[in-house]
Amino acid sequence: QTYSPFDFIIFGATGDLTTRKLLPALFYRYLDKQIPAETRIIGAARSPLTDEDFRGRARDGLNQFIQEADRNPEKIEEFLTKIHYVSLDGADPNGKWSSIEDLLNSKQANPVRIFYFATAPRLYGDICDNLSNKKLLTKDTRVVLEKPIGTSLETAQEINNRVGKHLPENHIFRIDHYLGKETVQNILALRFANPVFERLWSSDSIDFIEITAAETVGVGKRGGYYDGAGALRDMVQNHLLQVLCMVAMDPPISLSEDDLRNEKLKVLRSLKPMTEDMIKTDTVRGQYTTNEQNGEHIPGYLEELNKDSSNTETFVAIKAQINTSRWSGVPFYLRTGKRMAEKTSEIVIQFKKSAWSLFPTAPEPNRLHIRIQPDEGVSLSMQVKDPSKSHTSLRSTFIDIDFSPAFHIRYPDSYEGLLMDAVKGDPLLFIRRDEVDAAWKWIEPILDGWARGVVPLSQYKAGSWGPQEANELLAKEGHIWHEDM
Ligand code: BG6
Repeated sequence: QTYSPFDFIIFGATGDLTTRKLLPALFYRYLDKQIPAETRIIGAARSPLTDEDFRGRARDGLNQFIQEADRNPEKIEEFLTKIHYVSLDGADPNGKWSSIEDLLNSKQANPVRIFYFATAPRLYGDICDNLSNKKLLTKDTRVVLEKPIGTSLETAQEINNRVGKHLPENHIFRIDHYLGKETVQNILALRFANPVFERLWSSDSIDFIEITAAETVGVGKRGGYYDGAGALRDMVQNHLLQVLCMVAMDPPISLSEDDLRNEKLKVLRSLKPMTEDMIKTDTVRGQYTTNEQNGEHIPGYLEELNKDSSNTETFVAIKAQINTSRWSGVPFYLRTGKRMAEKTSEIVIQFKKSAWSLFPTAPEPNRLHIRIQPDEGVSLSMQVKDPSKSHTSLRSTFIDIDFSPAFHIRYPDSYEGLLMDAVKGDPLLFIRRDEVDAAWKWIEPILDGWARGVVPLSQYKAGSWGPQEANELLAKEGHIWHEDM
């Protein structure tokens, strides 16, 4: 696919996201020849840097965050010539706007203009007001808003109202990078292009579903943001609920942006509201503590933050339920945490046991694992005759597809495709405003219940699979978390 040249302006350009994700993603698209020659990438942030300073930071970042095999110095230098920097506080109407105005009103300016907001979400409204007052929002302008949009339904609505004052909904791209992950998109193909699965995709055949996003990293340098947010706002309100939508939605009537998003919205609106009793029994919150593993000291959350106390959760497990005929009675277990035993994001579909068995030992139920990352792929557990035993003996095995080696391709980072969708103006994989509202509506009672102390903060050792309470949440129903096939 070819693109027309564009101007890509990043507010919050000196932050982590720009260095780790945005510039590497654009670089890969440059290698893939999707970034036309006249394109400009303009970093904007308060620090007083020159173009050269910012290019130096970008160079260091690329050399750290792109794969070693792709660190071609010549290509990196070519890419860096597209990068500019303006020292500007986007939220300040009296900031040095002339520098960005000059760039965007110059002869070299490109018609397609993307403003990427990688700042604190509470600044999105101010930045939009300023862009509008400075007449920088043209008819080909799109803004990309990073998650989480707000910290509650009210703050999300306020941000969406303020941004929506200046731009129509189809120019507002709320990004959730989990929707950029190949394997999350692949759920659509897996379900709707394989009748063998879709016919079984309901409470008739499915016992329960697990969605895990486990990380080994701690909060690192993001403590300032994270301690005010916590895992429920940081991961569940957006990423995990979006994955849940892809797993649970009915087939959309087409792959148009509205048809797909209408189906996701239906799922969010069908989530069973969490009452105080349900919050008590169906939610777990945890925080990691210091640990020693293989002689290595792994800092606890408080140690990383250099604080004496914090009530912020770094781990969440929730039993969610969907009030529809398809899903009634099927628990959706959601789990996410920092400093867990492994970096893995996975969906597990546990099928029901057969009520009848021909064999002396009842067969294990089938289980489908959809590995979102790393090692993107799918495995299906199966029962076969145990070749070393008599004809009545069964053995569990599985069919496994690892996508990357199977298709001989590099699996692109989730931001790569999404950034280019924003350039193209394709909102299919971005979050519509009503989805944000519906997600907050379901999350908010949990946040409120937790704030009232309904669920104590459990502790888990850094490097473990989370607090014991998360296992008990499933054990109550005779279920377990499945880590690996
Ligand atoms: C981000 C969260 O949205 O997702 C981070 O703010 C988290 O806290 C990250 O580390 C996880 O993304 P991924 O793609 O590594 O699973």
